[in-house]
Amino acid sequence: MELGEGILTRRSIRKFVKDKTIPDEDVKFILDAAMHAPSARNKQPWEFVVVNDKNMFGKIAELHPYAGFIEEASLAVFVCGNLNEQHAPDYWVGDTAAASENLLLACHAKGLGACWCGVYPQEDRVEKFKKLLGLPEYVTPLNLIVIGYPDFQPSQPNDRYKPNKVHYNHW
Ligand SMILES: Cc1cc2nc3c(=O)[nH]c(=O)nc-3n(C[C@H](O)[C@H](O)[C@H](O)COP(=O)(O)O)c2cc1C
Repeated sequence: MELGEGILTRRSIRKFVKDKTIPDEDVKFILDAAMHAPSARNKQPWEFVVVNDKNMFGKIAELHPYAGFIEEASLAVFVCGNLNEQHAPDYWVGDTAAASENLLLACHAKGLGACWCGVYPQEDRVEKFKKLLGLPEYVTPLNLIVIGYPDFQPSQPNDRYKPNKVHYNHW
């Protein structure tokens, strides 16, 4: 898939073919893509918790109000920020968001569907998932990316270009 086409056709997928395993090399590819994201001072302050234990999916669905569709997914990745490794306070958010978008696009490139489910800055969700995953104090989950083989194709094209959102030289 050509990069531009991939960017314009990526959509959130919340319905998956059940019980289909993602090959290890594809899992490595999407994580590698995430780790190729830009980051402030190239600090790469990210950590990834890959969840492939189906018993965990039910627990995650209980803790996240908008991720119930994880029950039919193949994999979930928590994209987290390592606060000890970031360039300066709060930079981890932009860095891990860039990694997350790379991960979503890499899924699309491999024929996988994925959906970003927000965790940070909802403090209660952050605390619940830190506990569930056993994260150290200095690691904060930005999101949970739910991944699987799409069971439907979202409508295309999805025209979002709005000229009034573009400001040249001055507002
Ligand atoms: C910060 C953030 C939080 C999101 N949280 C959720 C979520 O909790 N559950 C969900 O189903 N989708 C979530 N999404 C996905 C958005 O709903 C989706 O990206 C948006 O509707 C645009 O659709 P598209 O991804 O198909 O372009 C989130 C996206 C972002 C960037």
